[in-house]
Amino acid sequence: MKKKIGVIFGGRSPEHEVSLESAKTVCAKLEKAGFSVLPFYAPRSGAWRLVKVKDLLSGGGLEGPEIEPSLGGGCFVKKGGGRIKPDALFPIIHGSTGEDGILQGLLELLSIPYVGCGVTASAVGMDKVISKELAALDGIPVLPHVVIRAHQRASMAPLLKKARGMGFPLFVKPVAQGSSVGVTKVKRPADLAAAVNKAFRFDTAVMVEKGVDRAREIVCGVLGSPAGARASVNGEVVPRGKHEFYDYEAKYLDNDGMELLLPAPLSAAAAARLRGLAVRIFLALGSSGMARVDFFVDPKDEKKVYFCEINTLPGFTSHSLYPRLWEKTGLKPEKVLKELVAIGLRAAAEKRRLTIARK
Ligand SMILES: Nc1ncnc2c1ncn2[C@@H]1O[C@H](COP(=O)(O)OP(=O)(O)O)[C@@H](O)[C@H]1O
Ligand SMILES: [Mg+2]
Repeated sequence: MKKKIGVIFGGRSPEHEVSLESAKTVCAKLEKAGFSVLPFYAPRSGAWRLVKVKDLLSGGGLEGPEIEPSLGGGCFVKKGGGRIKPDALFPIIHGSTGEDGILQGLLELLSIPYVGCGVTASAVGMDKVISKELAALDGIPVLPHVVIRAHQRASMAPLLKKARGMGFPLFVKPVAQGSSVGVTKVKRPADLAAAVNKAFRFDTAVMVEKGVDRAREIVCGVLGSPAGARASVNGEVVPRGKHEFYDYEAKYLDNDGMELLLPAPLSAAAAARLRGLAVRIFLALGSSGMARVDFFVDPKDEKKVYFCEINTLPGFTSHSLYPRLWEKTGLKPEKVLKELVAIGLRAAAEKRRLTIARK
């Protein structure tokens, strides 16, 4: 019997559309890998729907029966009757509620195995302050930053002063967002407060980080579990045209907004170091399954590298970085997905063995 994998996509974040594209690849390649696939569409609001793979792939609409989780039942139920019990779930909702542990918490309550990071690692990975601090504790190089929280907004002058003291350019970003939403490169002291206020539109905490001017951006895929993980080759993301950094437009709106150099043109020593750091960060943050780890490299000195962020549910569209990094490493997307399902099933089996009674 084929294993049934429920693929949950859509969601409430600004990355809703990216998730739809990721789900197309994930569903098609899971079928290719020999699974039976159940696509679960989570609209921006309202009930989830069970849609057909062929409708998703052809863009033929996201209609289908409403489904809802049955918490005690460890399954989903269709409106009008009928139980759906996948062998594992594959969340592919990027950003808030999908990548930050919230969806993972629901899946834990359902006791259905799922792919990717658990609740804690997802939440940690989404928070740029906590993930940097944990990485730094493990000796990973990071850039200095200042955090401003919502309750400090009324009297943030001393924090802005401290941030200015780090020198320019500065990068201002919401602490737990993605896709460069709300991110500003600030070159002059006079522009700092406006950038901070803009970032506060998207989050209740804002990070002002020391910038690496014209930073090289190196990305690395990691695949594995806490028991052992491996890194893909490195890629280098080069923003093109008018984009001074890898902003939202360059990511999604401008077809020529970026170029991916595969593998990244680094010396063998620098490439090996970054791959090693990526695995260390993955393990230090308690990740499982997949993650893309992003670094900044000083354009004048490839020995100066800094951890930027970890993405625990990276894009999985046909032109996304994560599957391309693995393809270049010699692992086709269907192989990556098969391994991810196996890791998810193993993690769930391990958890099931834990004692939940007191004796
Ligand atoms: N400290 C920094 N130095 C140089 N560039 C930065 C810095 N921080 C952010 N950037 C630029 O902004 C982009 C988005 O920032 P990032 O921290 O990756 O947030 P997101 O989660 O939105 O992708 C990066 O890809 C990079 O182009
Ligand atoms: Mg990023």
